[in-house]
Amino acid sequence: MPRLNPDNLQRALDLIALYPQRRSALIPILHVLQEQDGFLSEDGMSHVGELLGLEAVEVRGTASFYDMFHFEPVGKYLVAVCTNIACMLQGAYRLLEHVEERLGVAPGATTEDGMFTLEDAECLALCGNAPCVTVNWRFFGDVDPDRFDILIDDLRAGRLDDEVPPHGTLTRVRRTAGLAAAGATPTEAAATGSGAGRGDGGADRSPTPAPGRPVVPALDLSTRRTTTATSVLDAAHLEP
Ligand code: FES
Repeated sequence: MPRLNPDNLQRALDLIALYPQRRSALIPILHVLQEQDGFLSEDGMSHVGELLGLEAVEVRGTASFYDMFHFEPVGKYLVAVCTNIACMLQGAYRLLEHVEERLGVAPGATTEDGMFTLEDAECLALCGNAPCVTVNWRFFGDVDPDRFDILIDDLRAGRLDDEVPPHGTLTRVRRTAGLAAAGATPTEAAATGSGAGRGDGGADRSPTPAPGRPVVPALDLSTRRTTTATSVLDAAHLEP
């Protein structure tokens, strides 16, 4: 599905309405496109360009600056293992070796079932909980081989679906002011805090523990990344 589907087209139009200049909605809409398809296709970027009055080359030129956007299909879960200094000193290469063995792929590759793409990452800014891993931009700290296996089992079983949405959509993009999360009614959005006027603090993001087993705690630091569209929400949330 290379172009925005009707629901996401509406989300894009709502995003555009937030800005005095249409083109300012580019990055949030690209996240919506990536959420839908898992990557930014040429057709998809052309569609976004049409919506914003931009040439396709302008869309691609902007998107290619950001390493959170993908131009080829990636797995449902993008697993990044940090091997920078703090994590390296805490056994990151041993962990990476285990991850490669467990997933059966080297960094840069995707598992045959399309579930996981592996990345060997630079510092992910969770050095205090080294070694750390992100899955679709959700952070998991103090990961060792056993905990990584639990994480993969939980992801495969769908136990972390609420915590780790497919293809790494940023929570902030889903919560853009004035927009409800996809699929939520306005009432549901108000109840879950996914609509306007709600910051991160109200959402319970704790994973549901699997029976009899500990769950690696997820830190959704993706919510700390600010897009232009959501900076208003950030400011509101930070006010005492
Ligand atoms: S070195 Fe791994 S998070 Fe900083």
